[in-house]
Amino acid sequence: MSASAATRRQTPSDIRARKGGAPLVCLTAYTTPIAKLADPHCDILLVGDSVGMVLHGLPSTLGVTVEMMILHGQAVMRGSDRALVVVDLPFGAYEASPEAAFVAAARIMRETGAGAVKLEGGAHMAPTVRFLTQRGVPAMAHVGLTPQAVNTLGGYKVQGRGADADRIREDAQAVAAAGAFAVVLEKVPEGLARDMTQALAVPTIGIGASPACDGQIVVIDDMLGLFSDFRPKFVRRYAELGAAAADAVAAYAADVRSRRFPGPEHVFADEARP
Ligand code: KIV
Repeated sequence: MSASAATRRQTPSDIRARKGGAPLVCLTAYTTPIAKLADPHCDILLVGDSVGMVLHGLPSTLGVTVEMMILHGQAVMRGSDRALVVVDLPFGAYEASPEAAFVAAARIMRETGAGAVKLEGGAHMAPTVRFLTQRGVPAMAHVGLTPQAVNTLGGYKVQGRGADADRIREDAQAVAAAGAFAVVLEKVPEGLARDMTQALAVPTIGIGASPACDGQIVVIDDMLGLFSDFRPKFVRRYAELGAAAADAVAAYAADVRSRRFPGPEHVFADEARP
């Protein structure tokens, strides 16, 4: 069943049960109006820590805080009632210990009402995934390119080529075995994504990981064409909203400067009409 046909909000178990079925449709969302637009079409709305770069102009996701994730998580919950809302655990909030991860995740779930959290990391995060899931926190895992590790990975490069494939395979197996209800695969080659999708009992959600995955996710601002200077190879642009918005602002500025706006239809009369 697609999220658009669902009559209630999707749960992590619903998503898990979709393994090998119709592709899961996932998008990021950070605000109420965008959540309202995306919710009827999506199975998962991810409040990604990409919010830091996309909406707050940060140079990476490392500066994102739990408080930011809560505010955006609340906004997305207000704008949705069908898709499962998953909120990212931000850098620094969960890596130190499974206990620290639980405290951050419980606060996010309590204050947003979101149904699950996502955390980056493979085999070394498996004990944390297990700790969370055993304590009532559904966890979505994220392996391959993990943007919070940009400094140790040496940039936003494709992961798992050649001899490196085994590392990513072990990462995905470890987090799935630890109880993750789905695994995001970011920027990995097609063959590896296909192998992992066949090997894992839970859905794989690809971003730059080929159609071989059980579902797809992209950053919504990328597919809407809100940026002119950022065109990742793995994103298809379905609109050019950035260019349309820039044209609209230029037209408004020209109208204000030439006094064409406001027009008579925007003006309040001195006396109320009977
Ligand atoms: O933060 C994010 O947006 C993500 C992606 C998987 C899209 O983690």
